[in-house]
Amino acid sequence: MMNLPHLYEQFFHLYGNTEMWPRCFFAPGRVNLIGEHTDYNGGFVLPCAIQYGTYLLIRSNNDQVVRLASANMDFRAEIPLAELSEKVNDKWINYPLGIIDQLRKLNIPVKGFDMLFSGDIPNGAGLSSSASIEMVTAYALTSLMNATQLEMIDLVKLSQRAENEFVGLNCGIMDMFAVGMGKKDNALFLNCMTLEHKRVPLVLGGFRLIIGNTNKRRGLADSKYNERVTECQLAVTYLSREMTILKLGEVSFMQFYKMQETIPDELIRRRARHVISENQRVLNAVSSLLKGDILQFGALMNASHESLRDNYEVTGIELDTMVSAAQKINGVVGSRMTGAGFGGCTVSLVREQAVDLFIDQVGREYQEKTGIKPDFYLAEIADGVRKIKVG
Ligand code: GLA
Repeated sequence: MMNLPHLYEQFFHLYGNTEMWPRCFFAPGRVNLIGEHTDYNGGFVLPCAIQYGTYLLIRSNNDQVVRLASANMDFRAEIPLAELSEKVNDKWINYPLGIIDQLRKLNIPVKGFDMLFSGDIPNGAGLSSSASIEMVTAYALTSLMNATQLEMIDLVKLSQRAENEFVGLNCGIMDMFAVGMGKKDNALFLNCMTLEHKRVPLVLGGFRLIIGNTNKRRGLADSKYNERVTECQLAVTYLSREMTILKLGEVSFMQFYKMQETIPDELIRRRARHVISENQRVLNAVSSLLKGDILQFGALMNASHESLRDNYEVTGIELDTMVSAAQKINGVVGSRMTGAGFGGCTVSLVREQAVDLFIDQVGREYQEKTGIKPDFYLAEIADGVRKIKVG
């Protein structure tokens, strides 16, 4: 739990203690249970918001500048309102700047604000620290400026545009959606094509979700990610010779099975096979959860990892080592990488009694094989972005 009094002290130390009390907002991170690399293909996903996230203390100023600081690292910036639309080298501040840029494009002029961010999501671990920063900024600024015309779904879309257009990652909508719409003890079943969504109660009985951080930074992740996006578009181009589609998510597994030969390139065919089979796995996973069939759900998680490894090729030695160490343990019903891949985190569904054994054994085997010390977190499924009442 964040030490909020300390954060307030830091805020006053940075920006002075004027009469106006800063407001406090929080946006969670997310873990995706299944449906990986399907969102930008107009497919299905099943993420949920988690207990870790980003706090933002924010107060308006009369100085025609936006001041940004992070309590996690020694970082401060002061940007005049006139220069706000320029991207800067320091990566994380492009997330709030991207939001401000998008608000301006909607004719919502951002005034001067002092902001202090503080987060407990491990950076670059695939738990959406970036969407969390974007959504907390979008929610806080629109609340403070009374931009009530924007609903949560508008903030979600605006954050995705900030990431696509300002930051330059062609990501889908899943992360922002989970961060904005998350609900305690529920997963979100989202159709990324239509944005129709349903909450699915996560009744795990005697099971727990363990997030395993490989602590392998997702090097080159952004360029590889954009490469996968392009490969999927190419698959659509080939399949469009046979059917009218805009995205791979529109193709059923049966249709793909019959038409896969229209994709001449074997690698592109495998990419499409992942997306289309993963989509079907999400549908099956949702019905397993609704039936309370945790074992079936776990088997689908395992199959998802296999396809991400063999067809989509976004895992790598660290994620594969951690997942196979987990799958060996009696009491683990499913384990897979989560998020973009290329490093980052795994998510495993584990019997409550096996949690300690899991952390001990997976930790040991992973470290022996990779030389990296991992971290483990027991996921609690939490609510989406919100204002925090203080005092
Ligand atoms: C990242 C992106 C998401 C999604 C996942 C992969 O988290 O931000 O939009 O594509 O990767 O499922």
